[in-house]
Amino acid sequence: MRARVVYESMFGNTAAVARAIADGLRTYAEVELLCVAAAAEMSEPAIDLLVVGGPTHAFGLSRTRTRRDAAEQTDAPIAVDIGIREWLDAALPVPRGSRAAAFGTKAANPWWLPGSAARGAGKRLRRLGYELADDPVDFLVDGMQGPLAQGELERARTWGERLAHTELDRLTNRV
Ligand SMILES: Cc1cc2nc3c(=O)[nH]c(=O)nc-3n(C[C@H](O)[C@H](O)[C@H](O)COP(=O)(O)O)c2cc1C
Repeated sequence: MRARVVYESMFGNTAAVARAIADGLRTYAEVELLCVAAAAEMSEPAIDLLVVGGPTHAFGLSRTRTRRDAAEQTDAPIAVDIGIREWLDAALPVPRGSRAAAFGTKAANPWWLPGSAARGAGKRLRRLGYELADDPVDFLVDGMQGPLAQGELERARTWGERLAHTELDRLTNRV
């Protein structure tokens, strides 16, 4: 089974979650891990599962403006030109039966802050024709720039492993 994980990350937290998900997926799948800027440069491969995630900005997927805001908060080199929103909006519809999953990161506090990049990505994936392998999942960060809340990397790894297990089951039981 082949899987591809595509992520966007400003301060490194979503990147760490993406790596943990990829590690989990590797239990049952061959996995390619790409940041969204790299994915945008590549052709669409023949894969069995696409996993997409980004940070929650202003209640949803980031935009150029919010990525600029984030870039001003750090000295780390941050690509602001393309995010998951733009990449998915430019993607072509996929054949029936294509499978995907969505994840995101968001601030743990205040706990009531609405919005989720995971849900935004899931909505766009469905619009492209993907069937979602699971409900979109949010992973929590303590504070705007992280670090990830305790236990989130392990949860991400476990989620990736479970996703791959379910998808492999589906593939092997298909006639
Ligand atoms: C411009 C900006 C807007 C944000 N808006 C929200 C928000 O609406 N809800 C939320 O839960 N977190 C929000 N955050 C916190 C981000 O979700 C957090 O920085 C992100 O999960 C960290 O992931 P990263 O290290 O991969 O960038 C915002 C952060 C930035 C920089």
